[in-house]
Amino acid sequence: MLLKVPEEKIVYSSEPENSIEYTKKIDKEYSKYAKVYDIAVKLLPFWKTWIKTVIPYIEGNRVLEASFGTGYLLLQYANNYETHGIDFNDKMIEMAKKNLSRKGVKASLQWANVEKLPFPDSYFDTIVNTMAFSGYPNGKQAMAEFNRVLKKNGRLLIVDFDYPVNRNIFGYCLTKFMELAGDIIRNIPRILQGFDFEYSEEEIGGFGSVHLYIATKLTTV
Ligand SMILES: C[S@@+](CC[C@H](N)C(=O)[O-])C[C@H]1O[C@@H](n2cnc3c(N)ncnc32)[C@H](O)[C@@H]1O
Repeated sequence: MLLKVPEEKIVYSSEPENSIEYTKKIDKEYSKYAKVYDIAVKLLPFWKTWIKTVIPYIEGNRVLEASFGTGYLLLQYANNYETHGIDFNDKMIEMAKKNLSRKGVKASLQWANVEKLPFPDSYFDTIVNTMAFSGYPNGKQAMAEFNRVLKKNGRLLIVDFDYPVNRNIFGYCLTKFMELAGDIIRNIPRILQGFDFEYSEEEIGGFGSVHLYIATKLTTV
């Protein structure tokens, strides 16, 4: 029998009141843990499997990976496209650059905050965003920027934590655990709808707590 949590327990996180303070705090944390993060990604087979689910859905030639971390995912696909990447943590960027150069993988990587992407409107065919959206203090602003820099009919691919649709206790607890660890658990479909994206959603692991969103931008900005 499936152990389900009651519907009223599915409560999304509120966003931090002071987004600048929040951003400073997580930037500091990523600086501390960048090395450990790199090792963890390489050692955790399920994490790698989850984030790699976006690869078959990449379309077109110009791709942006927003918040690439130490670059594990970039290593898998970047040479097949004109690939750009942004992240706001200097240590992560340094490690990603080293990882790419060691493997002969080419991508244009730069520092940027997802809330203000340094690209023109309608520039990318695909945007990839894995395990990062729940760390942004202002989800709507991040989504507005994704929407702005994507071409019409462009693809947005997000992997992140959310409650399992069937509300099973294990997926629920994993999602809560991520929230306790500092993640902002959001109703991503609702945010996508607010920007007129057409999307499909798949639960790809973690007892239904890890979701892949495949979204298409319907309108020009
Ligand atoms: C949990 S890591 C995910 C890294 C990688 N995408 C993965 O799937 O393993 C989150 C990344 O988001 C970046 N990040 C967090 N807030 C950001 C922001 N406001 N703008 C740009 N990058 C941000 C962090 O620096 C970190 O590299």
